[in-house]
Amino acid sequence: MSRIVAVTGATGFIGGALLKALLAQGWEVRALTRGARTSAPAKNPRLHWVTGDLDDQDSLERLVHDAHAVVHCAGAVRGITQAQFDHVNETGVRRIANAILAQAHPPRLVALSSLAARKPSLSPYAASKRKGEKVLLELGDKVDWLAFRPPAVYGPGDRELLPLFQWMARGLAILPGPGEARFSLIYVDDLVQAILQGLEIAPGHSGIYELDDGRSGGYSWDDVVAIFSRLRGKRVVKCAIPAWLLRGLGEANLLMARMGGYAPMLTPGKVRELRYLDWVCHHTGSWRDISGWSPQVSLPEGLKNTLHSL
Ligand SMILES: NC(=O)c1ccc[n+]([C@@H]2O[C@H](COP(=O)([O-])OP(=O)(O)OC[C@H]3O[C@@H](n4cnc5c(N)ncnc54)[C@H](OP(=O)(O)O)[C@@H]3O)[C@@H](O)[C@H]2O)c1
Repeated sequence: MSRIVAVTGATGFIGGALLKALLAQGWEVRALTRGARTSAPAKNPRLHWVTGDLDDQDSLERLVHDAHAVVHCAGAVRGITQAQFDHVNETGVRRIANAILAQAHPPRLVALSSLAARKPSLSPYAASKRKGEKVLLELGDKVDWLAFRPPAVYGPGDRELLPLFQWMARGLAILPGPGEARFSLIYVDDLVQAILQGLEIAPGHSGIYELDDGRSGGYSWDDVVAIFSRLRGKRVVKCAIPAWLLRGLGEANLLMARMGGYAPMLTPGKVRELRYLDWVCHHTGSWRDISGWSPQVSLPEGLKNTLHSL
């Protein structure tokens, strides 16, 4: 069996970390790129870039040809309209699946969904991730597939949570969610390990799996602030952003993004996600039972690594 693994999204945060781990493990990697190779390791003879896009079926078929497995990390995490998110997070999954189905021996597909898919009504992003999962469920047993639902992922290379963490490290916790909200987290290397194990397990486990860092019941913002206080050896001052202000910022940012033609992160949909009270992974045992995977990095350790990597 060939040891080629095809990867989408390898220029992004999670895909970039995966790429490094795959090469370190000796895989031959074929990675899709739209041109920006920012997080790629330096030249490696086992890394082969395929120029293309999720819109370009030919490039996807070249990407997955003869591969042992395909890891689909590409996704739209910023955007304005439902159609923009669906185009990447639903149609993109369908195009990758079609490229796999066109192979004589369809390789396994490991896809990144999101815990957000659990509440599709909250935002266009969440709805698009649920639609992407539906595409996989419709594959039935035509392809051996796995989908992971990570909660918020943090670690070196992340740009979304980093500003909050940097402020906390300086002593100011700017809290975007309510005090009673609880959420799971996962360090990027632990997620990457789960994906690597997804490449190796025996066939027959197609399904959707939630993953977290092993902290039962997740965290509150107070828990995170307490960890930063311990890391600093000094108190961290809390400043909760009022819901009305966050909503106003989301609306204003959306308006500016429409006028400026860029893909915003903070939108009314993102604000609803941030204000949601239960982003705790509830069914994390099944992937551990199947694969033997277990997360290794605690939040204090992961935060130290993240901040030291800057
Ligand atoms: N980060 C998190 O906390 C988190 C949590 C749960 C789930 N996820 C999921 O994990 C996946 C990766 O997230 P991330 O944080 O690594 O995102 P990211 O840093 O924004 O990377 C996104 C990747 O997708 C690629 N991409 C986007 N649209 C594409 C298209 N039309 N054709 C080809 N490639 C395209 C980007 O390529 P370019 O470099 O060319 O833009 C980039 O490589 C996403 O599916 C996301 O929904 C992330």
